[in-house]
Amino acid sequence: MSDFRALLSFAAPYRAALALSALLMLLESTAALVVPWAGGLLTDVLLKSGDTSSAGTAPVRIVLLGMLGLFVLQALLKFGNTYILGNAADRIVSDLKIRLYDHLQALPLAYYQQRRLGDTLALLTNDVYVLTGFISGTALALVPLLFTAGGAVVLMFRIRPALALLAVILIPVFYLLMKIAGRRMRPLSGQIQGEYAGAVAIAQENLGMLPAIKTFTRENQESARYRGQIERIFRLSVKQRGIYAALDPLAQLIAAMGIVLVLALASSDLAEGRLAPAQLVSFLLYAALLTRPVAGLADVYGQTQMTRGAFARLRQAMEEPREPAADVGIPLQEVSGAIEFQSVHFGYEGRPAALEEVDLRIAAGETVAIVGPNGAGKSTLGHLLMRLHEPSAGKILIDGIDTATVSLESLRRQIGVVPQHVLLFNATVRDNIAYGRPEPSPEEIEAAARAARAHDFISALPQGYDTMIGDRGVRLSGGQQQRLALARALLKDPPILILDEATAMFDPQGEAEFLQACHDTPRRRTVLLITHRPASLAAADRIVRMEQGRIVAMHPCKPAQQDT
Ligand SMILES: Nc1ncnc2c1ncn2[C@@H]1O[C@H](COP(=O)(O)OP(=O)(O)OP(=O)(O)O)[C@@H](O)[C@H]1O
Ligand SMILES: [Mg+2]
Repeated sequence: MSDFRALLSFAAPYRAALALSALLMLLESTAALVVPWAGGLLTDVLLKSGDTSSAGTAPVRIVLLGMLGLFVLQALLKFGNTYILGNAADRIVSDLKIRLYDHLQALPLAYYQQRRLGDTLALLTNDVYVLTGFISGTALALVPLLFTAGGAVVLMFRIRPALALLAVILIPVFYLLMKIAGRRMRPLSGQIQGEYAGAVAIAQENLGMLPAIKTFTRENQESARYRGQIERIFRLSVKQRGIYAALDPLAQLIAAMGIVLVLALASSDLAEGRLAPAQLVSFLLYAALLTRPVAGLADVYGQTQMTRGAFARLRQAMEEPREPAADVGIPLQEVSGAIEFQSVHFGYEGRPAALEEVDLRIAAGETVAIVGPNGAGKSTLGHLLMRLHEPSAGKILIDGIDTATVSLESLRRQIGVVPQHVLLFNATVRDNIAYGRPEPSPEEIEAAARAARAHDFISALPQGYDTMIGDRGVRLSGGQQQRLALARALLKDPPILILDEATAMFDPQGEAEFLQACHDTPRRRTVLLITHRPASLAAADRIVRMEQGRIVAMHPCKPAQQDT
């Protein structure tokens, strides 16, 4: 099973701990297997001493003490084993979680634009949880049980092959039982997991959309949608429990019937002298060991099915192609910021082309305004420059170097973006501004905030730069959020700046001040100014007009509009 092999690859670094616990398991099982033999011995000793006197004779005491010792040994081995193996299993699962998160983080944005975020969250929560439960609960408990059962069968054969055969014959019966139950259980557990992911997705989306739900008074509908989802999970669980509930007692019943049958045959063997009483005792104790794995069989089987589903989903996600690693490719040295789009084509998956035959040269230090109707492809231009998506044809050059050949890290470090939809973290104002630059000084942060016209409102906040701004910055006004995003991009101080409607929510006074400040800064950078606002247009050297993914017009700003 390749799933199993993939799991083993995660276990490889913990070989030593796993080998040690395998050894402990082996010893534990051996100790368990000695007990029935000791039981037979005890019977023997008792029967022999029975005609003389009490049960307190020396041989009886020795056997009893020996058995006690075996139980203590078993308990100690179990402790060591559970502890060592449990830790190794925890470590394996922790590694898996970390690897999974890193992988999910490295997937291209397109991955997330094609699916529900809740499905991905379910991977990190439910699926990893199922896997953890399986490894540290079911799988680890199962191994010594199977060891013991295997050993018991072998030893039963040594005592009385004809009787042992009966136990072996029962194995295919159990197998068949599992097969039949599994046919119903497998699709069920798959469905349950799917519906569970659905519930996470609904809750996650709705809680994030609460303002919309409340303003459109959709509470009842959304409650009903979530309730419906939970009800579906409940109904599937009821079905699943039905199978579980029937399977365990059925398996135990079959095992018990087997034992009764063994007893019946054994008693005639005993009567006819083919079996000594001590052998019968040992045999029955072995048979009892054998029935232990049968109890909880359905649970183990169900867990295994769920884990297979969870593991298949995890593997699928892990096999999704990542973006190239941040440091793969030529490191792009500090650029002067000349940009060239050469017949660039691009379409989002399953959509008509968003960019067609785009040719655009921007000189280093030039400020180019990009205008055009909604959906024209303006923001897409910025995404491609950052390589958040890759063009399907054509090239994008910076300082004459094809960006497809450079490392993502060195490329993105040189481009600052204020996105159309501002993204802020639930952290302080200071941390949000400092996000794109390692350890800036307070003066640098303040300078960036001043340039973005954010310093005044920040100073008026209760804790100033140390104010927590809430999830996605909810405790700030829309314009204030945008000013923070702008300050963050300016602090990064990149040679290329993409301002995607970056002042759309500014008041006119703030916008005018910001544009003036841009003009006054000595540092010349290349600016892509995506905007609909006339005031912003005035700050541009050139205006590029886009329509339906194409550049339809390009003209320099009238000198009158330039204020120098
Ligand atoms: N993630 C996406 N998946 C599929 N299609 C997309 C995606 N993002 C944008 N589009 C589509 O691509 C086209 C260009 O979108 P883009 O965001 O570049 O437009 P825009 O010019 O920035 O518009 P606006 O002025 O509204 O910001 C639109 O038709 C849009 O529907
Ligand atoms: Mg846009």
